[in-house]
Amino acid sequence: MPDRLQQQLEAFERALEGVRDEDSLYALQVAYIGRKGSISLLRRDMGKMSPDQRKQFGVEFNRVKRAIEAGIETRRQFLSDDARRRELERFEDLTMPPRRPEFGSLHPLTRTRRALASTFRRMGFDVEDGPHVEHGRYNFDFLNFLPDHPARDEQDTFFVEPRGDTSSRELVLRTHTSPIQVRTMLARTPPVRIIALGTVFRRDEDRTHSPMFHQIEGLYVDRGVTMADLKATLLQFTGSFFGPGLDVRLRPSFFPFVEPGAEFDMQCPFCRGARCVVCKQTGWIELGGSGMVHPNVLRDCGIDPAVYTGWAFGFGLDRMTMLLHDVPKLRYLFEGDIRFLEQFPC
Ligand code: PHE
Repeated sequence: MPDRLQQQLEAFERALEGVRDEDSLYALQVAYIGRKGSISLLRRDMGKMSPDQRKQFGVEFNRVKRAIEAGIETRRQFLSDDARRRELERFEDLTMPPRRPEFGSLHPLTRTRRALASTFRRMGFDVEDGPHVEHGRYNFDFLNFLPDHPARDEQDTFFVEPRGDTSSRELVLRTHTSPIQVRTMLARTPPVRIIALGTVFRRDEDRTHSPMFHQIEGLYVDRGVTMADLKATLLQFTGSFFGPGLDVRLRPSFFPFVEPGAEFDMQCPFCRGARCVVCKQTGWIELGGSGMVHPNVLRDCGIDPAVYTGWAFGFGLDRMTMLLHDVPKLRYLFEGDIRFLEQFPC
């Protein structure tokens, strides 16, 4: 009887050699030591044995069963190690950093726009936009441009042919973000505190001008708003955008929709006024235009200039982005060249 146990063990060990996967290992386990496995079945004959034989059989049975269990465990371990080893062999070099998916990144202009929006939002301004194709009225007339103002010339402005019989309507690609002032004032009552950020178009193209560029405009209308508020806001803006301590200066200038009007400059954030190449040795960077909203504009937009006053400012995002990222040519911003854009990872 013990011989049969030993034969079974040897047969098992031969079969075990050939096992290559977990499923067949399990099948083998069941075939030998499962409830109806060949080893287990040998126990059935125990009843016919003498007590001595039974004892001897019991000892032998346990030895064989344990050997089989140990064999299965060892093989199972071997199979799982082997699977892992083969998995690892698929990688050429385990010390290589993991391959990451490629991420896109934000265009430098988008970054500037978002940073400006969040700076002004923190100061309590809403962000507004309007259509690129704008009524000539909103782009010019409501802003106190005289009908024969040169900005209205085909030399400067892209006119859009209206569809259908709309001979009375004049459509342009907006030449600045100021029509958003108009739209906002027509739609709201003061206090109005907005910035408008967006793409604008002029027939202008050379090394430093592009027919499509970007502006930000600020507008604040309420009772008792003065130019001091304008300067304080600009100071607050330059401080939180470029770091504190940069002065702002206003120089008298003319824009039809403001009176008085002023150009505004900020102290060069690179040399902090000490003069450098960026500020062309002047210590100042010209940012844009500003001024007190012209009473005619307020009135045309339904706001009583005897009760309310307001200021507006506007400047370009493109040159500011070039300054911030040291971009040498304006056109790099618009060409979509991947070699340029890849220099601005997330
Ligand atoms: N809209 C003007 C421009 O495009 C800028 C400006 C805005 C000037 C607001 C004064 C006040 O040049």
